[in-house]
Amino acid sequence: MKILDDLKKIKELDKQDMLGIEERFVDQLITAQGIVKSADYKNLKNKSFKGIAILGMGGSGVSGDIIKNLVIDSCEVPVEVIKDYELPAFIREGWLVVAISYSGNTEETLSAIGEAFKRNCEIMCISSGGKLMEIASEKNKCLVKVPGGLQPRGASGYLLFSTLLSLNEIGAISISKSDIDESLELLKQKVLLYKRESGQSDNPAKQLALALEGCMAVVYGVSGFLSAIAYRWKCEINENSKCPSFSSEFPELNHNETVGWENLSEITKKFALIVFKDSSASERIKVRIDTTSELIRKNLGKIIEIPVEGRSKLARALSTMYLGDISSVYLAFLYNTDPTPVDRISVLKTELAKLDK
Ligand code: PA5
Repeated sequence: MKILDDLKKIKELDKQDMLGIEERFVDQLITAQGIVKSADYKNLKNKSFKGIAILGMGGSGVSGDIIKNLVIDSCEVPVEVIKDYELPAFIREGWLVVAISYSGNTEETLSAIGEAFKRNCEIMCISSGGKLMEIASEKNKCLVKVPGGLQPRGASGYLLFSTLLSLNEIGAISISKSDIDESLELLKQKVLLYKRESGQSDNPAKQLALALEGCMAVVYGVSGFLSAIAYRWKCEINENSKCPSFSSEFPELNHNETVGWENLSEITKKFALIVFKDSSASERIKVRIDTTSELIRKNLGKIIEIPVEGRSKLARALSTMYLGDISSVYLAFLYNTDPTPVDRISVLKTELAKLDK
């Protein structure tokens, strides 16, 4: 039997059921809608802000990258994503600072939110618990509590949607109901297509994992939300499949990286280049993607084109993200790897915690 269709083998490998978590991605989005309805936004509702800063690292921070790029052409104030201990000087009183940390204990996020308190910024916290939740309750700040017990990257439906819908709820950004409905409908179809019971011959997520097996995946997005999604794919391949992977974005990569595929082809012949093909991209971007692919094709093992599906930006972002998320779990199985543990992240956090003793 083909390994990706061997449900018994998958169950043995996937001890904490990362695949099941992916298969329930839409449930997280639906739950997040309920969470937002019952959260208390009274101190933030209908205020005007000078800007919005979204803090967060890794699996939590990527929600900030995606949200920033989803609202960038409609939000009238700057939206910044901060992945650091420090806040830039321009973030001060009048800004809304949104801290996303699934564990609530990430030191960079806690340090930056501490600074936001000092600067008298408006605050919103998205977390399942930890110190962030304690601080938010102590200081009577807006807290959106998501269910705990998952890996942060496996909670992206909760984190991304709770943050996006909370910002919509307070009037800081605007997300239409039809975009949300379209996204949920499209994702429900994708769940059926990508789930474990859908056999390899009909399952694009399993087929993608098979195409990536043995290759170094380089993911090319396009400046905007597809760049954030390319980065998410890279991170999911890193953390779930435990493989090196890198991402980059058009048009910037045409000014440097395109040249860099010339030498070392004995190595890059083992690389798979993933490119997102979005029919609503501008003509110039389409030409860049096609010309680049032709220029570097001979230096690569393969090029995998991923059609971007959906009408709204939200649906296109979420459906493309979902394919990468679940395929990276199937890729882990091909390497006989349990997708859940991220031991090296835990070691680093433990070493850093020693500095506080
Ligand atoms: O995937 C992971 O475990 C990490 O990328 C974490 O998300 C990151 O370390 C930040 O932790 P948290 O999401 O709990 O703030």
